[in-house]
Amino acid sequence: MAVALSPASSARLRPQSAARFISFLNNITTGRNVLTGFRTLTNKAPTFPPFLHCYPGVRHLRRDSPAFNRRCFSSAIVGAISSEEAVEKAKKEFLEKPDVGTGQKVREFRKRLRIADIKGGPDEGLDRVGQTLVVKGWVRTLRVQRSITFMEVNDGSCLSNMQCVINSDAEGYDQVESGSISTGASVWVEGAIVESQGSGQKVELRVTKVITVGKSDPSFPIQKKRISREFLRTKAHLRPRTNTFGAVSRVRNALAYATHKFFQENGFVWISSPIVTASDCEGAGEQFCVTTLIPSSRDASDSLVDTIPKTDDGLIDWSQDFFGKPAFLTVSGQLNAETYASALCDVYTFGPTFRAENSNTSRHLAEFWMIEPELAFADLSDDMACATAYLKYVVRHVLDNCKEDMDFFNTWIEKGIIDRLSVKWGCDLQSEHERYVTEEAFAGCPVIITDYPKEIKAFYMRLNDDGSTVAAMDVLVPRVGELIGGSQREERLEYLEDRLDELKLNKETYWWYLDLRRFGSVPHAGFGLGFERLVQFVTGIENIRDAIPFPRTPGSAEF
Ligand code: 4AD
Ligand code: MG
Repeated sequence: MAVALSPASSARLRPQSAARFISFLNNITTGRNVLTGFRTLTNKAPTFPPFLHCYPGVRHLRRDSPAFNRRCFSSAIVGAISSEEAVEKAKKEFLEKPDVGTGQKVREFRKRLRIADIKGGPDEGLDRVGQTLVVKGWVRTLRVQRSITFMEVNDGSCLSNMQCVINSDAEGYDQVESGSISTGASVWVEGAIVESQGSGQKVELRVTKVITVGKSDPSFPIQKKRISREFLRTKAHLRPRTNTFGAVSRVRNALAYATHKFFQENGFVWISSPIVTASDCEGAGEQFCVTTLIPSSRDASDSLVDTIPKTDDGLIDWSQDFFGKPAFLTVSGQLNAETYASALCDVYTFGPTFRAENSNTSRHLAEFWMIEPELAFADLSDDMACATAYLKYVVRHVLDNCKEDMDFFNTWIEKGIIDRLSVKWGCDLQSEHERYVTEEAFAGCPVIITDYPKEIKAFYMRLNDDGSTVAAMDVLVPRVGELIGGSQREERLEYLEDRLDELKLNKETYWWYLDLRRFGSVPHAGFGLGFERLVQFVTGIENIRDAIPFPRTPGSAEF
């Protein structure tokens, strides 16, 4: 095994600072064991030594549509309002009244003022003291005292709640007394922003009027006490109302935004790769079949197996299936991305992918999102440069733009995660580092491993001159393990055909992929990054099931 410090520079991307990667190319011992050893050590690694490099909507329901009115109508009747006429009046009032005082505009097309708009500025809302405005959200907690009630309202725009202080003279106070305002209820609250007496926040809302938009049944499962994430997985429809899942959702969103921003700023074109496909990109047979041969409606769940059409040989007659041949959910958009890279040069996909592997681990999902850049006129070091630059960019974006949520993760989910992510890339390896690398097998730092034995990698990877390894690279990061898998692609037709033969893969089904090597083939490379693993890496969340809104895993597709 050779340990190398090499600048992963690219002609097309800005030169990158040095990235460390471990090469199997020159001094490879045996394949799988060496590799497994690395992986195990890396995955076990608990810390991230500071000297090592780190990476670093539209609502379609119109407000004036009958459906919208129906929903709001029914929820607005809670409280003091009793007659139809009064309901109509209140509904009109709270839907059409601007959320800020006279003359102020919230946004061009949206009247709703967000708590982040109020408290997100540098002085945390003090600039709004004296303003009368409206907050809409869900009650997190309610503390009823003799003469005053404190209600924490959250609208998901940020981690912070708006503390609403309700005196008994506030309009709608009877809803507090009657219990129709409780944890989980949705509320419309109007009041004046005042400096807060309490220590938890700079400002609070002195409430003049409160309306319960939707009551919450006392069985609401997310009460104030700390709840385990295992339990919350059984309430995936309500868990975004917790601090943790609100923060994960916002950081996930920021990572998606930064992903598009990075590639767009660097001249990549976003390609939609198909979700239904007839080819197996990884050749590993981990695909979900998409078929209409088996009745799909729930009523037909007692259909006989005999209804599946068969050939004379007793095999399934796929020619009668919807697509006229076996079709699957894609495991990767790479092969399709390669076709567009062979015309547009630098492209990327960002979409859902599926794997029918029976892995019940904290790093595997059956449905996950993948980001797959593909670079034409590029080799493995261009690929690594791109991966390095991408990771640095998205991590920086989150640290700069999700401060409150990152502080939350730093305190409650993984102590020290901000330091871990903030460490600079590109410092030289010193001897103690090298010793550390050799003695501790690079525990705790992100590394790139290159040039794997061909036997354990997919057919499309470019064969190295040694004839036994391929130009592959995996990026491993602490706590998550493999975050990125990429390679230079085999652009030589005869090599690719030989490889397909060796692996007994059906060349016919790859005809169009092979065509790329017949018509203007170029060296090209790319990688795939599991988006949920990136969310895990950046937030410190331990289980991948908590990094996606509705996880799909073996035996679990609720919600
Ligand atoms: O290493 P993989 O299998 O590579 C490919 O699919 C290539 N076709 C990508 C490419 O070169 N365009 O998968 C890429 C990444 C992994 O490194 C991992 O982060 C993630 O996808 N991944 C999974 N994430 C969650 N659940 C699973 N079951 C995953 N399998 C892979
Ligand atoms: Mg892989």
